[in-house]
Amino acid sequence: MSNVTIKSKSEIEKMRVAGKLAAQVLEMIGPHVVPGITTLELDNLCLDYIENTQHAISACLGYHGYPKCTCISPNEVVCHGIPGPHHLHEGDIVNIDVTVIKDGFHGDTSMMFVVGDKTTELKRRLCECSQKSLYEAIKIVRPGANLTEVGQVISKVVKPYGFSIVRDYCGHGIGRDFHEDPQVLHYVNKADLILRPGMTFTIEPMINAGTYKTRVNRKNGWTVTTQDGLPSAQYEHTILVTEDGCEVLTLRSDENFERIFHH
Ligand code: MF3
Ligand code: CO
Ligand code: CO
Repeated sequence: MSNVTIKSKSEIEKMRVAGKLAAQVLEMIGPHVVPGITTLELDNLCLDYIENTQHAISACLGYHGYPKCTCISPNEVVCHGIPGPHHLHEGDIVNIDVTVIKDGFHGDTSMMFVVGDKTTELKRRLCECSQKSLYEAIKIVRPGANLTEVGQVISKVVKPYGFSIVRDYCGHGIGRDFHEDPQVLHYVNKADLILRPGMTFTIEPMINAGTYKTRVNRKNGWTVTTQDGLPSAQYEHTILVTEDGCEVLTLRSDENFERIFHH
């Protein structure tokens, strides 16, 4: 926890730009998430947009050998789904996770999409729970707050739904590096860190319908699924701690949520 960086004014401005670009990739890809499309086609659209429209860089492509631009994780895939020939179907829920680098700084965000017009009540509630837990966690971010509260708030939201919180993956500091200190745990924990203005980190709760336990695909070394095969949902934002609250650097236009909190 000792390597938490405090971003300067000019670094914060670059984080704002990177965050906005990452959000805009999700805004762009939404209308393309339809029954029959493959996850590779979605990935190619994102890569083309990031490189040729945004003139930015995909942080994932080549990251520790990761082979694609985005992570696309349907249904029981918790995270790090590798785009490929898999077709999406009506009623699937799917997470698309985008991280871009612009001017040396990272913006990292993900959201769930429902494929087609409808899904099951379970999958709908799972998405709702994950987004709500992210939003409630963002609301407690301010100078002087303790990062451990993030896990408490998320647990409080998830409990009445009867879902579980993934423990094997967490949020993270972000800036010049993709994954910086601190780790941001989404479950009840004892990792204390007093927040200060200029800190930037992600909150990205992965919520499972059944067990919290996960497994990594042994063939590709990346794709994380639930151990019981039940679905999982995740939303992610990159957050800046401001002088009196926080700012959601990756807010999208479709969201009914504040960009800036003054507390
Ligand atoms: N974007 C993911 C996160 O939220 C990390 C993906 S790493 C990759 O931290 F290599 F799988 F792309
Ligand atoms: Co992240
Ligand atoms: Co991400």
